[in-house]
Amino acid sequence: MKATAIAHPNIALVKYWGKRNIEYNLPAAGSVSLTLGGLETRTTVSFDGGIDADVVELNDNLVDQGPKYDRVAHFLDLVRNRAGIREHARVVSHNDFPTGAGLASSASGFAALAVAATHAAGLDLSDSELSALARRGSGSAARSIFGGFAEMRAGTREDGQDAYAEPICGADHWDLRCVIAVTAHGEKDISSTEGMTRTHQTSPYYDQWVDSVSLDVEWARAAIEQRDFDELARIAEASCLRMHASAMAAEPGIIYWNGTTVDLIHRVRKARKEGLPVFFTIDAGPQVKVFCPAESQTDCELLLRDTDGVRDVLVTHPGEGARLIEET
Ligand code: DP6
Repeated sequence: MKATAIAHPNIALVKYWGKRNIEYNLPAAGSVSLTLGGLETRTTVSFDGGIDADVVELNDNLVDQGPKYDRVAHFLDLVRNRAGIREHARVVSHNDFPTGAGLASSASGFAALAVAATHAAGLDLSDSELSALARRGSGSAARSIFGGFAEMRAGTREDGQDAYAEPICGADHWDLRCVIAVTAHGEKDISSTEGMTRTHQTSPYYDQWVDSVSLDVEWARAAIEQRDFDELARIAEASCLRMHASAMAAEPGIIYWNGTTVDLIHRVRKARKEGLPVFFTIDAGPQVKVFCPAESQTDCELLLRDTDGVRDVLVTHPGEGARLIEET
């Protein structure tokens, strides 16, 4: 009844930003991502008849109340219901990268929790079932079940059983690097969930944004299969900027960027014009993720390190899917 799992964060190349159902956490549209090796979450879960509430420890801190605790406890309820057990759980989770700063810690966190908790509860789920379950914790977590490039399907069913991710190509298909420029430390002010809800409720661009996603998903899948860097750069930057434009048009407008984020956008585009194969993407935070082929990694790193306001640079590569590493 004790299991440990590892999962990596992922970065969306075509963004998920909006839900068609909040209770089941169903995305309004599909998305496409790369799972990032080099950053990981490691989570151990054990169900224990001797405790009267779930015990959750995140990065050496006991979390015993508040939204983070509720989110984990609610997720554990889903696992308990499915397994037909009532015991509470001990959850110990560690990230080896900054939590809550737009580096997708909820993606690796709920993917690792889905794998560890289901094994500890004696369940044996398929990857699609695990992906749909991880989605209930966080939409982007559904994609971290898979390694390499993955596509999230929005699905059409009310119960969300067809809303899960599927692999496009494994981690060894294309040796891209994702170099992350950390431009601010600390947790962001507006969570993705909150940002999406506000965009949905108040942004006049929300419907157009959602309508634009399915073509981007088709194109991104084809560009990945063909290893077409320029085409992927076009799609990924457009998807990122459209997502942020829809959020900025909400009321009050949501601006995740700082000055360094904007400087980096310009520097990446200038470097590309001058011949360096790079493109950027940005999630719900101020960090900038820059993609390049493996052979351009050093130049890309130098470009980011040389920018005023960049506090740290992390290099990642295509990573494996979420997996069990120990069970006792
Ligand atoms: C901007 O998966 O964190 O990173 O489902 O509400 O937990 P919830 O949202 P979350 O949203 C991720 C948003 C994004 C884009 C993406 O990863 O596709």
